[in-house]
Amino acid sequence: DAKLQHMLSDLAASVMDDLELRRTAFRLRENEISLRENEISLRETLREKSELLVAVNKLTTSVIITNPRLPDNPIIFANQGFTELTGFALSEILGRNCRMLQGSQTDPLVAREMRQAVAEQRSFSGVLVNYRKDGTPFLNEIMINPVLDDEGELSSFVGLGQDVTQREQSRLLLEHRVEERTADLAHSQIEILQRLARAAEFRDDETGQHTQRVARTAALVASALGMPEETVTLIYQAAPLHDVGKIAISDLILLKPGKLTEEEFETMKTHAEIGAALLSHGHSEVMRIAERIAGTHHERWDGRGYPEQLVGEQIPIEGRILAVADVFDALTHERPYKEAWSIPEALQEITNQSGRHFDPKVVAAFLTLAHEELL
Ligand SMILES: Cc1cc2nc3c(=O)[nH]c(=O)nc-3n(C[C@H](O)[C@H](O)[C@H](O)COP(=O)(O)O)c2cc1C
Repeated sequence: DAKLQHMLSDLAASVMDDLELRRTAFRLRENEISLRENEISLRETLREKSELLVAVNKLTTSVIITNPRLPDNPIIFANQGFTELTGFALSEILGRNCRMLQGSQTDPLVAREMRQAVAEQRSFSGVLVNYRKDGTPFLNEIMINPVLDDEGELSSFVGLGQDVTQREQSRLLLEHRVEERTADLAHSQIEILQRLARAAEFRDDETGQHTQRVARTAALVASALGMPEETVTLIYQAAPLHDVGKIAISDLILLKPGKLTEEEFETMKTHAEIGAALLSHGHSEVMRIAERIAGTHHERWDGRGYPEQLVGEQIPIEGRILAVADVFDALTHERPYKEAWSIPEALQEITNQSGRHFDPKVVAAFLTLAHEELL
C-alpha cells in the first residue's frame, strides 16, 4: 500500500511537472509571438519613419529643425530644399544659428519679431531678405513652429522657407501699376473738374485768376484751421467750382456793367443752388466738397445769406471758409462797379464782419496769414 501510495505521488508530481512545463512552453510561445509582433511593428515604424525622412529630405521647400536646448538654438537637421535654396552644404550649417543667412539688407524689425517669437516659443511667419552662400540676396518666406514633447516641454523648432523673390517682385510691380492707374484716374477727375470750373468762369473771368486765388486762400485758411493735409488739398481742388452755377446765368445779368435790379439780383443768387445741383450725388470726396462749397459759399454766419439762410455751424465749414476767401478777393480786386481795396482796408472789413457775415473762428485763422500769402 505504502509502495503504491509512493508510486501514485511520484506519478502526480511528474504530471504536475509536465503540466508546468507545458505552461511554461505555452508562455514562451506567447512571448515569442508578441516579440515577433513587436519586431514587425518596429520594422513598420522604422520603414514609415525612413520614408518620411526621405520625403522631407526630398521636399523642394526648405525644412530645418533647430534644438533650443543647445546653446544658441543651432540647426540640427536641414533637408535638400534648404541646401538648394541657400547653396550651403550640410557640413557648413549644422550646429549654427539660422541668422547666418542674414545680411545688410535684412530688415532688423522682422529679425526682431522672429527673435521675440522664438524667445516666447510662439509660431512666426514673415518674409525677409536672406543671402545665399555666394552672396546673392533673396526674399525668404519663413514659417517657424515650436515643437513640444510629451511633457509639454519645448523640444525643437521646425522652420520652413521658400524663395518668394519673383512673387514679391510681381506683386510690387502690380501694386505700383495700380497706384499709377489710381493716380491717373484721380488726376483726370481733378482735370475735368478744373475744366468745368474754367467753362463757368470763362465768361466773366477769362483768365480764371479769381477762382485760382480764392482756391489758394481757402486752402491756406483750411490749413491755418488745423485741418488735415488731405482735406486741405480737397478744398483746394474743389474751391474753383464755387461759382460753377454761373454757367446757367444769362450774360445780360452776369456781364451787366451797372448795378443789378432786385429781380436780376434774385436771378444771380440762384447760381448757388444751380452749382450745388450740378455737382450733386458725386461719388468722390472732392465732388461732395465742391457741392457743399457751391451751395453754401453765400450763406452768412448770422443767417442772412442765401440760398437757405443757414445759421452758424449749420453752414458746412468749407462754405464758411469760401465765404471769407471769396469776399476778400472781391474786395481786393477791381470790379466794373468798384475800385480795388488795399489789403489793410479789406482785412478791416473782414474783421468787422466776424460774427456777422463770417464765422469768427475762420476769420481768426484767416488773420494769421501773412499779407504776401494773400496776394
Ligand atoms: C526653426 C527656425 C528657422 C529659422 N529660419 C530662418 C531663416 O531661414 N532665415 C533667417 O534669417 N532667420 C531664420 N531664423 C531666425 C534666426 O535663427 C533668429 O531667431 C533670428 O535672427 C532672431 O534672433 P537674433 O536676433 O538672435 O539673430 C529661424 C529660426 C528658427 C528657430
